[in-house]
Amino acid sequence: MSGAIYFKNNRLFYLDQTELPTKEIYRECRTLRDGFKAIKYLQIRGAPLIGVFSAYCVYIAIKDFPNYHKDKFIKYLDKVVDFLKSARPTAVNLSWAVERVRDAAKDNLSSSVKALKKIILEEAKRIHSEDIKLCLRMAEEGVKLINRGDRVLTHCNTGFLATSGEGTALGVIYKAKEVYKNIKVFVDETRPLLQGARLTAWELCKKKIDATLITDSMAGYLMKQGMIDKVFVGADRITLQGDVANKIGTYSLAVLANHHRIPFYVVAPFSSFDLTIDKGEDIPIEERSPWEVKCIDRKLIAPKNINVYNPAFDVTPHHLITAIVTDRGIVYPPFKKNIKMVLSYE
Ligand code: MRU
Repeated sequence: MSGAIYFKNNRLFYLDQTELPTKEIYRECRTLRDGFKAIKYLQIRGAPLIGVFSAYCVYIAIKDFPNYHKDKFIKYLDKVVDFLKSARPTAVNLSWAVERVRDAAKDNLSSSVKALKKIILEEAKRIHSEDIKLCLRMAEEGVKLINRGDRVLTHCNTGFLATSGEGTALGVIYKAKEVYKNIKVFVDETRPLLQGARLTAWELCKKKIDATLITDSMAGYLMKQGMIDKVFVGADRITLQGDVANKIGTYSLAVLANHHRIPFYVVAPFSSFDLTIDKGEDIPIEERSPWEVKCIDRKLIAPKNINVYNPAFDVTPHHLITAIVTDRGIVYPPFKKNIKMVLSYE
């Protein structure tokens, strides 16, 4: 296993996550369209990984552009960035990363096109190696919130398939195992695309962690039975006041956790914060194909002509969140004041 993505000999490769857990297939991203499709159809997914991968996609798109026409190159670069941003709207890491590589080029406009290409690649590599370090830092912070023997519930996939390091929420869980906290993990299957069952369960088995898979509708029952001590989830976008967009079903878990007085923690790097947005209502929520709900593994499980509503994310309001673990420290309420303060630490 070479991680969820790798860049080698000027070529970009990714593990096709739609084939997991039955097949581990690496594919090459040769063109801009390959990259766009890999993101849109969730071959690559998870907010931080989408960011890193999309930064490399910018390079893949521009690397063969003729070297002699700088104005046209810059116009094309803008188009590439806008196109990639349109692949998925909710995870802010996507626009953050592609804009960052574009801005690195635009800050050096006096350079040749050849040099600008090199700058873009270097910036993508920097985002990649930074993401690995951010995961380590989040794990070090988050593990402080875990006690020996805790039973932790998690949702969707937030591990080494969702980042270029060990993960966000799952990274904390891996760290807890490393320091012998002897935890037990419950994993929501995470309908409709089953990232919990297909990806998180796969990761936890590989890491030999005591894990139990449940369907999404079982979470409340487990909480009522006193079987859950803490909930740890990731984030796709966090606003200035601490509202969190994450995989659909996260909000229901937060309401349940609040009702049962169970701490609810969000783990995310600084690149998942969108400080241009105050309230969660302003986060764009991706709506996906009805076939994702009507089918499992391409097999129809509902009448073909039934109406379907398929929002891929929901927003958990800040008052339901106990704390947000970031690479720069743990943020507690009042979030509006403390997010800015903690994110300003470097
Ligand atoms: O639609 P996905 O699979 O990209 O959604 C992923 C999630 O919602 C994760 O929980 C989120 O990106 C946090 S990640 C490390």
